[in-house]
Amino acid sequence: MPDLVPQPESPRPEPLEGVLEPWTKKVTILVCWTRQLVPENQDMIRILQYLGCLDVLGFYSGHYCWNATCNNCIFTFRDPRTGEVKTQRSCQTRVQDGLEIVHLPKDVHRK
Ligand code: FES
Repeated sequence: MPDLVPQPESPRPEPLEGVLEPWTKKVTILVCWTRQLVPENQDMIRILQYLGCLDVLGFYSGHYCWNATCNNCIFTFRDPRTGEVKTQRSCQTRVQDGLEIVHLPKDVHRK
């Protein structure tokens, strides 16, 4: 007789498992007026990768240094603590709850 009891779905794997910094909860950010839930405790460039916004070719061709040298990751955001609009390197900016991206880095596209 077939099993008629619905089986729980296995949880969907998180993108970038094993790559992300340790995290226990998600925070809400706005990416071009779209609300996104993303893991806490990450640099913003990693969050853009997590969201699938980084061009794969650019990502693997060394377009991003991930180390505050190339400036290709510069983005503009509203700081939720102060309301101030800031332009900084996304590889040097930690995600925080309520952060609002105003302008993505020049070669990053919203998905
Ligand atoms: S990735 Fe090069 S400065 Fe941020």
